[in-house]
Amino acid sequence: MIKLAIIGVGNCASSLIQGIEYYKDKKNKTGFIAEKIFGYEIGDVEIVGAIDIDQRKIGKDVSEAIFTDPNCAVKFCDVPKKNVEVMKGEVYDGVAKHMTDSFKVDDNQKSVDVAAYLKSADADFAICYLPVGSEEAVRFYAQKSLEAGVGFINAIPVFVCSTDEWSKKYADAGLVCIGDDIKAQFGATYTHRILTESLLKRGIAIDDMYQLNVGGNTDFENMIDEERLTNKRISKTTAVDSLFGDTEKPPVRIGPSDYIPHLNDTKICYINIHGRQFGDQKIEIDLKLKVEDSPNSAGIMIDVVRLAKGAKDKGMKGEVSIISSFGFKHPKVKMHEDQIYPQLQEFMNS
Ligand SMILES: NC(=O)c1ccc[n+]([C@@H]2O[C@H](COP(=O)([O-])OP(=O)(O)OC[C@H]3O[C@@H](n4cnc5c(N)ncnc54)[C@H](O)[C@@H]3O)[C@@H](O)[C@H]2O)c1
Repeated sequence: MIKLAIIGVGNCASSLIQGIEYYKDKKNKTGFIAEKIFGYEIGDVEIVGAIDIDQRKIGKDVSEAIFTDPNCAVKFCDVPKKNVEVMKGEVYDGVAKHMTDSFKVDDNQKSVDVAAYLKSADADFAICYLPVGSEEAVRFYAQKSLEAGVGFINAIPVFVCSTDEWSKKYADAGLVCIGDDIKAQFGATYTHRILTESLLKRGIAIDDMYQLNVGGNTDFENMIDEERLTNKRISKTTAVDSLFGDTEKPPVRIGPSDYIPHLNDTKICYINIHGRQFGDQKIEIDLKLKVEDSPNSAGIMIDVVRLAKGAKDKGMKGEVSIISSFGFKHPKVKMHEDQIYPQLQEFMNS
């Protein structure tokens, strides 16, 4: 089994937990890179712990908490009781000033000792699903995971696993850490990256590009505060402009662009690219991508945890670059998508 503790029982956690249930007995397993990874099937992934700070989720079984407001991810599977009660963590900077109506905190509810809880849950990995901009909170949970002897998978654009400092801390503790900022199965970042790679490979000169994203879930509501967005912009932008290597980068503007409440968990992305082809003739691409935001990252996370457990079984320590490059926008080592797959296959066959 692969035992997971979830930190932040929001929409991504909802899709992940539903997905584990949904694919247990399904023959046709769409949405994964492989049915078995290092011998682990989807049904081998188990939730053993859950932490949040929203008073409406704390004390509930995680199977119920994932369908509790303000979560709005599509329900595609009933989840039976898991006997995992959501415990209260520490708030730190997890709740932005403009989010206090959306994330409701009751100061009278008692926080759990996070390190002791993660240890007693015997989790292989803690998955961090906090809101963008939770710089202090993510580092707090990363430290507590370390103290608990639990590996860390960071789905959010706070730079932990991609830094030498934290990778070394985890390596010294004999633990695996993977991140940062989950890259969805076929989302804005992946689409923009493969489009850019293809244009460059075919000798197109890219003059400028932008990527706008809108959505209606709490992730988008949280991201209207530009101050919380610095690392999200860095993560999303470097995922694309790192493809230019040492050559001059064109002007690029990428990021979350607006919160449209009635879209709920639907995310719409617009990519625009201006370039020049043979004879300096103009080429322009306008692309619209519409997806359900949270399910889009859940299959990748199920692949990532199986890869990470394989790495743990092999005795690997610290950040594992091929897993981070495959599943995350801001890995320690930047690679082209077409380099990632052969290396991933090699790793999975090792
Ligand atoms: N959907 C995707 O494809 C995708 C892609 C990349 C990154 N992400 C990132 O993953 C993260 C999670 O996304 P989401 O849509 O589930 O967000 P969400 O807003 O639905 O969930 C966040 C959860 O964290 C809880 N929380 C806030 N502060 C906390 C704290 N200090 N301790 C414990 N819990 C706390 C909230 O109560 C909420 O339940 C976001 O940062 C998002 O940007 C998502």
